[in-house]
Parts: sequence; structure tokens; C-alpha cells
Amino acid sequence: MLDELKKIEKKALKALEDAEDEAELQSWNTAHLGRKSALMDVFTQMSRLGKEERPQVGRRANEVKIALETAFDARAGEIKRLVVEGSLKGEKLDVTLPGRRVKRGRLHPITQTMRRIYNIFAEMGFQVYRSRDVETDEYNFELLNFPKHHPARDMQDSFYTNKEGIILRTHTSPGQIHAMREFAPEPVRFILPGMCYRYEQVTTRSEMQFTQVEGLAVGKNITFGDLKGTLADFARRFFGQNVRSRFRASYFPFTEPSAEMDIECFVCGGDGCSVCKHTGWLEILGSGMVHPTVLRNGGYDPKVYSGFAFGMGPERLTMLRHGIDDIRYFWRNDMRFLEQF
Ligand code: PHE
Repeated sequence: MLDELKKIEKKALKALEDAEDEAELQSWNTAHLGRKSALMDVFTQMSRLGKEERPQVGRRANEVKIALETAFDARAGEIKRLVVEGSLKGEKLDVTLPGRRVKRGRLHPITQTMRRIYNIFAEMGFQVYRSRDVETDEYNFELLNFPKHHPARDMQDSFYTNKEGIILRTHTSPGQIHAMREFAPEPVRFILPGMCYRYEQVTTRSEMQFTQVEGLAVGKNITFGDLKGTLADFARRFFGQNVRSRFRASYFPFTEPSAEMDIECFVCGGDGCSVCKHTGWLEILGSGMVHPTVLRNGGYDPKVYSGFAFGMGPERLTMLRHGIDDIRYFWRNDMRFLEQF
């Protein structure tokens, strides 16, 4: 029996060294200290032993049991330590390293310009009207008094879709018709912002895709003086209180009379420089009194109602304000450019 106990102890201790994780430890515990283990068998068989042998074997068996339990606890502690050490090594963190900066997003320069324009016109009582990017030829041209095959269409070369008569809007002006038809005969005062698309050679001055902000006011007794006053005020609020502006006669099929507005070149103060191409003036928008035909197409009687409209390019306004010399920077998504705003 005593020899048997020695073997049991040796075998168990040897097996314990091979236990390498929590699970193996538990199965070792069941195998060597559990109810069906060899050691427990010894306890069971003790009743059959003689009077002299019994206390000796009993003491020895208890010693072995305690030895195994102690060894088990030691091994368990060791395994726990190894697990912690392993994860510490794997997840090592040097708290003295400098942190990584989180990049903060910001508004695109054109979004910033758009919002300044919205704010200025909001103070003058203009609401924002959103119109679609995908238009019909009818809204983009015909209802705006561009007859079919009229050379004025060449001013704005279109992107066509494979569906007859469906195009990408070349300007925000078709929104005028949508807005008028929705609200006629109520007076309206809207700005209509959005992307426009033109099939054009991309250069430093023109992109295939760009934004516009359209303006439209229709009501009774609206005059060219209202147009001039509104836009001159806009220019002062956008470019600075001292900026001078002028109107030049121009042509658009949907306005009559039409005018383009210039502001005095703020780079040279009107003396002439490369930015203003030595004219002393910078063109910033197109405008005019809404053509009677267009008013009628929008649902207003031109004998009773009148209105003005204008259209400006936020890219161009941003270029002028910040001295940017190439329109292509805006939609190229180069962080080095965008981060400056
Ligand atoms: N739609 C014109 C353009 O894109 C601008 C404009 C708008 C002119 C409204 C007059 C009135 O060039």
C-alpha cells in the first residue's frame, strides 16, 4: 500500500507539470484528487487493512493528499501569473509616447461661402428653395425662353442623359419656374442654391461641375431699383462695407433688361492689376428683371406682377475673396488646399 501511495504521488506530480492552462488543471484535479482517483481508492480500501497497517497508511495517504493539493494550488497560481504576464507582454503600452492627433473635420470652403450667402439673404427676407439637379430640357431651357436651336443655348453646353429630354441642369435658373409654379400668385422671395453641370473644357476658370446661388423675387411693383439695391447691399455685406459696385448691360434670354454686376477690384483698388485684367473691376454675377414670358410660364400675369432674378457662382466669389487662382482646387479633394479654410 505504501509503495502504491508513493507511485500515485509521483505520477500525479509528474502529470501536474504538464498542465498548462485552466482547463488542463481542472481535469488533472478530477483525475488525481477526484472521487474516482487512485488516491481516493486507497482511502476506500483502508477498511480492509489490518490494525497495524491502517494508521500508517492513513497518515501517509493524508500526507499525499495534502501534498497534491498544495502542488495543485502552486501550479494554479503559476498558470495565472503566466496568463497575466502573457497578456501584459502582448498589450504593452508605452504611456510616455506622444499621442496621435485626431483629425478634425471642417466645412468645405464652398459650404462656408454658401452659408454666408444664405445668412446675408436671410436677413433680407429670402428663403432657401431647393430644386432638382436632374432637369428636363423644358425647364432648363424652353420655359426660360431659350427656344429650340436658339444660339443662346450654346452659352451653356449640357450633359445629356440617355433619356430623351432629360439633362443635368446647366444653371439653377430652372428652379425659378418650379418655385413660381408652386407659389403663384403669392409674392415670392427665394434663393435657390445647388450644383450645376456643363459640358465644358476644364480650365483654371471653368469646371464641369460647380455651384450657383440663384435669387428670385416676384411681386407687385418690384423694380430694377430693388434689384440694384438688393445686390449692392449683398456685395457690401459679402466683400466689405466700402466695396463699390456697378451694373453693366448684358443679355440672358430669361431676363429683360439684363445686367451683370461688377465690384471694384479689391486687389488694386481699381487701378488695374492681373486679377481684374487691368479693368479695375471684377464681374461677380448675372441678373435682370424676370422676362414677361418667364413670369407667364411661372403662372404670374406679367401685366400685374414683376420680379428680378440673379445668379452667382460661389466658387468665383470664394476665389475673389481669398485670391485663389484656379477653380479646379475646389473639387479635387486635396487636403492641403481644403485644410486652409
Ligand atoms: N443662369 C445664369 C447663368 O448661369 C445667371 C443668371 C441667373 C442671370 C438669373 C440672370 C438671372 O449664367
